[in-house]
Amino acid sequence: MNPETFETFKKYIETNLGIKMPAAKKVMLETRLGRRLRALKIPSYEEYCDFVFSKEGYAGGEIQQLIDAVTTNETDFFREPQHYDFLTNRVLPELVIDRGIDEINVWSVAASTGQEAYTLAMVLSDFARTKHRFNFQILGTDISSAVLEVAQTGIYTDRQTQKIPPFLKKAYCLRSRNKSDNTIRLKPEVRGKIMFRQLNLMDSSYPLKKKYHIIFCRNVFIYFDKPTQRKVLERIYEHMAPEGYLFMGHSENIADVNLPLKNVSSAVYKNTAQVNR
Ligand SMILES: C[S@@+](CC[C@H](N)C(=O)[O-])C[C@H]1O[C@@H](n2cnc3c(N)ncnc32)[C@H](O)[C@@H]1O
Repeated sequence: MNPETFETFKKYIETNLGIKMPAAKKVMLETRLGRRLRALKIPSYEEYCDFVFSKEGYAGGEIQQLIDAVTTNETDFFREPQHYDFLTNRVLPELVIDRGIDEINVWSVAASTGQEAYTLAMVLSDFARTKHRFNFQILGTDISSAVLEVAQTGIYTDRQTQKIPPFLKKAYCLRSRNKSDNTIRLKPEVRGKIMFRQLNLMDSSYPLKKKYHIIFCRNVFIYFDKPTQRKVLERIYEHMAPEGYLFMGHSENIADVNLPLKNVSSAVYKNTAQVNR
């Protein structure tokens, strides 16, 4: 890929997706776009670049293919498991039992293929079943339509579901009837709790009507530069319920933002804006 072509992709990706594209990511970009070149039988990155930003490219959805190719979608069930312990031991008892909220809104901000949202659904369902009844809805959003399609199915391989504790797997997952097919599917009652929608965190506002008591925004800020992180966090904050909780990835530091968020556990923040009582 020649330097001008790299600059064109870099500018588009940084401006529209917020994802940093330093020169060190050139090889990664080449590898990922290489798959599109082969699929479309386009001989060079330069011709692909012309195509993707052309009228036909836009009309044919190639921009979305570019977005799907450049996002990193690594995720897992029970990733950073301390967060789910904190949720069960501190957050849910406070929201559901102490404050008596019977309708909890949860948002998985960069949901990828859905494992985070389904983990939340299982953890919350289990709390509602064994400790204290309440209702909840989970919104899972991501910029990549390809990952959202996977998330929507709620189907995962045995390998992908290894981290789900057996008692939760038994309660909330169904094994495929086809014995040779090593997959499980989340039960309809769990899938019914989650709505997956496409949302670009770089948009100037988010079309969300609710305030969220629990927001998981993990492992997406690492791709953004500091000013972008700040702007995105301000927009996410607008949709946070007073005294709600924000979970960030463990490597994501939001120390220098000027928002009423108090660090209450490792990478967990509480909105200090008070509920009108
Ligand atoms: C590494 S995954 C994190 C998944 C999950 N939150 C976790 O921690 O396991 C990062 C996700 O952020 C999404 N993403 C990147 N830039 C985005 C943007 N501007 N708006 C919305 N989602 C974005 C990617 O598509 C990707 O699925």
